[in-house]
Amino acid sequence: METILITTAVVTGFTGILAVLLTLADRTIANYGEKKLVINDDKEYIVNGGRSLLSTLIEQKIFIPSACGGKGTCGYCKVKVLEGGGQVLPTELPWLTEEELKNNIRLSCQCKVKEDMKIYIPEELFNVREYEATVELIEDMTPVIKKVRIRLKEEDEIEFKPGQYIQLKIPVYDGNEEEDYRAYSIASSPKAKDFIDLYIGYTGGPATTYVHKFLNVGDTVYINGPYGDFYYRDNRDKEMILVAVGTGIAPILSILHYMAEHEIDRKVTFYFGARTPEDLFEMDLIKYFEEKIPRFKFIPTLSRVTEEHNWTGARGRVNVHLEKDIENADNKEAYLCGSPAMIDTVVEILKKKGFTDENIFYDKF
Ligand code: FES
Repeated sequence: METILITTAVVTGFTGILAVLLTLADRTIANYGEKKLVINDDKEYIVNGGRSLLSTLIEQKIFIPSACGGKGTCGYCKVKVLEGGGQVLPTELPWLTEEELKNNIRLSCQCKVKEDMKIYIPEELFNVREYEATVELIEDMTPVIKKVRIRLKEEDEIEFKPGQYIQLKIPVYDGNEEEDYRAYSIASSPKAKDFIDLYIGYTGGPATTYVHKFLNVGDTVYINGPYGDFYYRDNRDKEMILVAVGTGIAPILSILHYMAEHEIDRKVTFYFGARTPEDLFEMDLIKYFEEKIPRFKFIPTLSRVTEEHNWTGARGRVNVHLEKDIENADNKEAYLCGSPAMIDTVVEILKKKGFTDENIFYDKF
C-alpha cells in the first residue's frame, strides 16, 4: 500500500510540474489568433487560440468539472475531441485509460486550442451555470474545518441532486497569482435552493488558504455547478451504507437532509471516520436525522483516541468496522466519500462481500 501511495504521489507531482512547465512555455511563445470551436456539432464559437480548451470553454461560460483548477492533477476535465487538439500530452496519459485514448478523450486543461476544433461534451453541462453569491456565514467546525454558507444573489436559485458538488472560484490574492477553481461538495439540503453550505478543510494550498485566511462574511464569491454523478439514487428500497471521513461528510449530510425531508425510511447506517472527538462536527444535525429518519444509525469511529478522551464509542478506521459489521451485499448499496486511499480500501472490502460497481457510488477527493 505504501509503495502504491508513494508511486501515486510521484506520478501526481511529476505530471503537475510538467503541466505547469508546458503552460509557461506555451504562454511565452503562443499567438494563435482566432479559432473556430464547434461543440456537439451544433454550437459554434469564435475563440482566441493558444489557451487551454478548459479556459477557452470557461470564457464562453461553459463549465467542465475541474477539481484541481487546471493543473492536470485530478483527471476530471475530460472531453471528447473530434477534430484538432494535437497529440495527447504526457501529462494526460496517467489519467486516460486505453479505451478513452481510443475514443479521443482528452484532458481539457492540458489540450490547447491551437487550431479549429470540434468537441463533444455531455449535453447536461450546458445547464451548469455560474452564480454570484454572498458569504453569509463562516463557522469553525473543527480546528481545521470551516463551514461556509453562500447565499445566491438576487433571489437566484440552484437546482442540484443531494451528493453533487460545485466549484468555487479562487481569486487572485496576495500569495496566489492565478485565478483558479476548486470543487466542494454541497452539504445543505437540495430543498433550500437559495443557499449552499460547504465544509472546507485547511490544507495550506491556495484555495483553502483563501477560505481560511482571506474570506470574510459579506464577501462576494462566484460558484459554478452543479456537477457529479455521486448523488442519491431515488426509487430504490435497498439498505444504505454511508461512509465518510473528514469533510467527506458534506454530500452525505445533503443525502440525509433529502431523506429526512421526503420521509424516506430505508434502513441506513452512516460510518463516519475521524481522529479524535474534536474532529466530530455537526452532531446536532446528526441527532436531528436520528429523530427524523426512522431506521438511521450513526457510527462515529475514531482512530487516534487516548485514555484522556474518555471515548466509549467505536475505535479504529471505518474499514475495520465495515469488514466486521457487513455480512453480505444482499439488497444493499453503498455511498462513500473521502480520500482515494480510504475509498479504495472500502471498495475492496465491499467487493469481497459481494457488492458490484452498480451498487457502490463514491466521490474521491
Ligand atoms: S486534470 Fe484537473 S482540471 Fe484537468
